[in-house]
Amino acid sequence: MGHTELMPAAPQLRTGRPADPCTMVIFGAAGDLTRRKLIPALYNLAKSDLLSREFAIVGVARAEMSDEVFRKKITEDMKQFASDGVDSDLWEWFLRRMHYVRGNFGEKDLYPRLRDLLEKVDEEHSTHGNHLYYLATSADYFGPVVENLAAVGLMEESEHHWRRVIIEKPFGHDLESARALNQRLLSVAKEHQIYRIDHYLGKETVQNILALRFANGIFEPIWNRRYIDHVQISVTETVGVEQRGSYYDQAGALRDMVPNHMMQLISLTAMEPPVSFQADAVRDEQNKILRAIQPYTPEDVLIKTVRGQYGEGIINGERVPAYREEPDVPPDSRTETCVAMKLSIDNWRWADVPFYLRTGKRLAARHTQIVIQFRRAPFVLFRDTPVETLMPNQLVVHIQPEEGISLRFAAKVPGPSMRLGAVDMSFEYRDYFGTQPSTGYERLLHDCMIGDATLFQRADMVEAGWCVVSPVLDVWKALPPRYFPNYAAGTWGPKEADDLLEREGRHWRNFEK
Ligand code: BG6
Repeated sequence: MGHTELMPAAPQLRTGRPADPCTMVIFGAAGDLTRRKLIPALYNLAKSDLLSREFAIVGVARAEMSDEVFRKKITEDMKQFASDGVDSDLWEWFLRRMHYVRGNFGEKDLYPRLRDLLEKVDEEHSTHGNHLYYLATSADYFGPVVENLAAVGLMEESEHHWRRVIIEKPFGHDLESARALNQRLLSVAKEHQIYRIDHYLGKETVQNILALRFANGIFEPIWNRRYIDHVQISVTETVGVEQRGSYYDQAGALRDMVPNHMMQLISLTAMEPPVSFQADAVRDEQNKILRAIQPYTPEDVLIKTVRGQYGEGIINGERVPAYREEPDVPPDSRTETCVAMKLSIDNWRWADVPFYLRTGKRLAARHTQIVIQFRRAPFVLFRDTPVETLMPNQLVVHIQPEEGISLRFAAKVPGPSMRLGAVDMSFEYRDYFGTQPSTGYERLLHDCMIGDATLFQRADMVEAGWCVVSPVLDVWKALPPRYFPNYAAGTWGPKEADDLLEREGRHWRNFEK
């Protein structure tokens, strides 16, 4: 689509202000997340002038390495994972502020050494004692690392400096463990110091849900039960479990995607307008939605949820193995690789509007979308024409890999009689705004460095997400599936996932190119 005029934004909104000076300490500095996402994201921030010039990185990992070896390793990784070309002067600047300390995250002796190093680094790079600790570690270390940091004074804040921790998922493996972890962290740190990351919130198209809903006058009046028939949220993937079999087999599709990423998508789609974009104003509204999701009874779990596991099949013309044949997966695994569920939000706006969720691995296409299906128009006018049914309008937010919004409506097919065809009006991000090299972590790291927690999960939100899935976990545990695998790789999942909608006269909108 054609030409656009960009609205003038306040300069600080358009470009963002540089982050506060700080030292970022990465626990798990030799791991995948660091090389694939964190370092490229920090580099992109520096390139856009959003990183303070007073900045340093301290990598922590188990391997014995000097600063020099660490810098060489990161340089090699950047060649592979940079989202764009690497500017040599900027990279040199970056390397000069990169340090390394060896240690086992669970061992106390690491922390006094880390504190001594941080003192030196803070002074050398004038980072004002602000520390951002990024826990790119296994979840077992979240509690111990934060406790150990606190024990040597590294969590203490003052008027002059801040101390923040970013924690990756999984945040607990059920409601009880999430609560226990929150309590453990909050016994040594304040809630405002803890940034629970959900990388879905780093996606521009996810943040755009707020702009679509609240920066336009035309959508909000119809965004409710009077006009909306149902909402579908699909996160379908073609990848299998790759090298993560041992994690995934313990987690399963439900834990891996629903209490976190899918709950973010639901809450942003369904929330009431917040009073401002202040972190707690937005998160209060999101949390109200999570709390309004009607809890499942055991009977509901049987009727309203579906689980599946992939057998072998064909993806992109190639035969791929069954889940049970993947590395580190037991040959009799009962772990689900696909979930579909129907949820109800018990509030004034959404009563009687079903929210259907679907996510899974090795499905027919990679696509994340939110489909808002509107109620049908009355048929009366068309009854004397060849039109047999009227199709509903759908507004679709395409999150990835397509990024945009489309509206499906009916148009007359040219010709002498009244016949209707479904047409799509679509907006694609790249047509208007081009594409920016991005890992999806830039915005989140920058927000943490300026103390904006809007796009991070609060303790109560994490717990509310687990409350939704807990009854499902309980029933599924008590009644192990007997019929796995029940879908072939490369299809749209088990038949029961289609039945979930079809018995109510509805259909998944499957992604077609
Ligand atoms: C992760 C899950 O949190 O999100 C993965 O653990 C999943 O299993 C991934 O593949 C999906 O993220 P994205 O950004 O590729 O949609």
